[in-house]
Amino acid sequence: MAERSFQAIILAAGKGTRMQSAVPKVLHKVAGRSMLGHVIETAQQCRCDHLAVVVGPGMETVATETGRLAPAAALFIQTEQLGTADAVLAARDAIAAHPGDVIVLYADTPLIRSETIGRLRAALDGGAAVAVLGFTAADPTGYGRLLTATDGDLLAIREHRDASEAERRVTLCNSGVLAFRCPDLLDLLRQIGNANSKGEYYLTDAIEIARARGLRCAVVACAEDEVLGINARDQLAGAEAIYQRRRRTQAMAQGATLIAPETVWFSFDTRIGRDVVIEPNVFFGPGVTVEDGAEIKANCHIEGARIGTNARIGPFARLRPGADLAADVHIGNFVEVKNVAMGRGAKANHLAYLGDGAVGAKANIGAGTIFCNYDGFTKSKTVIGDGAFVGSNSSLVAPLRIGAGAYVGSGSVITKDVPDDALSLERSVQETRDGWAGKFRTLMSKRKAAKAK
Ligand code: UD1
Ligand code: CA
Repeated sequence: MAERSFQAIILAAGKGTRMQSAVPKVLHKVAGRSMLGHVIETAQQCRCDHLAVVVGPGMETVATETGRLAPAAALFIQTEQLGTADAVLAARDAIAAHPGDVIVLYADTPLIRSETIGRLRAALDGGAAVAVLGFTAADPTGYGRLLTATDGDLLAIREHRDASEAERRVTLCNSGVLAFRCPDLLDLLRQIGNANSKGEYYLTDAIEIARARGLRCAVVACAEDEVLGINARDQLAGAEAIYQRRRRTQAMAQGATLIAPETVWFSFDTRIGRDVVIEPNVFFGPGVTVEDGAEIKANCHIEGARIGTNARIGPFARLRPGADLAADVHIGNFVEVKNVAMGRGAKANHLAYLGDGAVGAKANIGAGTIFCNYDGFTKSKTVIGDGAFVGSNSSLVAPLRIGAGAYVGSGSVITKDVPDDALSLERSVQETRDGWAGKFRTLMSKRKAAKAK
């Protein structure tokens, strides 16, 4: 028998007015990735065969993000916000095209885990036609309540506004995530009306309709913080906090030492090896890999970078996209590296800007060195050979090549290539006048005394 198809429908049509933003709500980011991106990723992790995303009219940027992350996803536009059932029906063509299991996810509920979706599918395998993801709410106000029978079967979902006093005392709530294995699902959804206090088509009415058709409905429970819905920026920050806690725990479980975990900020895609030590106040933007044994000292900002095995970074270092550091590289305080590959054991220990180029293995870049990579129009490269030594406070004007083993004298402005093993320096001749300072002080003291009379 062919595998039953599994389709996720992600609802993203809500305007998100409470975000007070020009950007659609679901494109706001948690750990460097849009909320929509998180939900798409989770759907992909649990191997959905088909993905449909329902957006509102004029949400081109949401469509673009969907296309970028899931090129095969089908996009549907819900012309009017008539409720969650209407939103799902906006994807009716996708449901008709792929009869099988369907799961409805909200793009503004980004923390749901693929294991949890797996548990919903298991409930379908266990004979439920509808499985609803529920949670016990600390404060259930506003949520739909899950009304269950003594045997645990789900009888109905009652929206807060339509609930009786007794029903409102129920704390088991609807997360909004529903999985269906219904024969004739489209027909069931079309049966949902809008005779309720909001005049909306409630997806939650599917429960009573399914039961009337003799189908069983089940509840799968999860923790409240997994189904936090984001409507405003304080909730976005709350989701960020939950996500960061997860990532820190994960990094530690995989063998990294975080001295003050609550001060380290990961991106959705940060990769951390074993025996990595991360000191307090480190921020990872997207695209960072930290290999085994590397040490990141306090107060570093790192994005789009690879940090090689046993490398040492910081304190107070900034690694920008394209910083590709091989094993044993040392980057010290107030050093910025962008789009530079550094070979094994290369060092830039203090106060430098290395932008666009390459630094050979074991090369040493002195304090205050600047790669002058930009002339206002184009960016050019500085290439430094293995074992070269660049003296402090040197300006290296790109395009420039400094040979292997070469020396650059401190304080030089280097504009021409330096051959292997040569010394280049560019500075005016030092003048020294013996005894000058003593004479100067005597002269100035006499002048001061004369003035005071
Ligand atoms: C919904 C559930 C409620 C549940 C709560 C969990 C219904 C009727 N109610 O209520 O039981 O406790 O979520 O947060 O389903 N959306 C559309 N198009 C629409 C309406 C909604 O795309 O026409 C999307 C929204 O963007 C949002 C999601 O569906 O992502 C939920 O819609 P919302 O109106 O916030 O539902 P709630 O009233 O919170
Ligand atoms: Ca000079």
